[in-house]
Order: sequence, then C-alpha cells, then structure tokens
Amino acid sequence: MAKIVLNEQEIDVPDGEKIVEHIEEAGVPIGCSNGVCGTCEVEILEGMENLNEVTEEEEDLGMEGNKRLGCQCKIKSGTVTLEY
Ligand code: FES
Repeated sequence: MAKIVLNEQEIDVPDGEKIVEHIEEAGVPIGCSNGVCGTCEVEILEGMENLNEVTEEEEDLGMEGNKRLGCQCKIKSGTVTLEY
C-alpha cells in the first residue's frame, strides 16, 4: 500500500493506482480528469520518484520541476507528499 500526504492528512492508496479520486476527496479541485484543463495542478513536495513518468498531457500544459497534474499521476509505491 502506498501513501499520499496532503494537508497533514495521510491517505492510503493501493500500489499502482491513479491518485485522482483520492486527492479529490481530500479537497483538490478536479476538472476534466483527462489532462486537458489544468485544474488539478499540484506541487510534489516529496516522493516524485514514487510517481509515474510525466505524461504527454502534463508536458503540453507546461508541468515542470515539481509540478504535476493530479489526474495524470499514478503512485507506484511508497509515500508522496503534495500540496495544491
Ligand atoms: S482535471 Fe483537468 S487536467 Fe487534471
């Protein structure tokens, strides 16, 4: 089981699963869920290496450094700390 830390909440997420539903429940605004609108932008504070590679959709919307689209992220394992 992997874990997301967001606003001091710890959320368990099965390894390999998309994080979008979990972060939405924790308050992150989600729009299209398809990597198009940019609403779900988050900042990864720790654990970027535990996420999937940046997707084409994220590159198209200029996600660089520690910025990701929450709807495009899958957690591989371990812990990822993020904020929005
Ligand atoms: S919800 Fe639209 S890009 Fe993620």
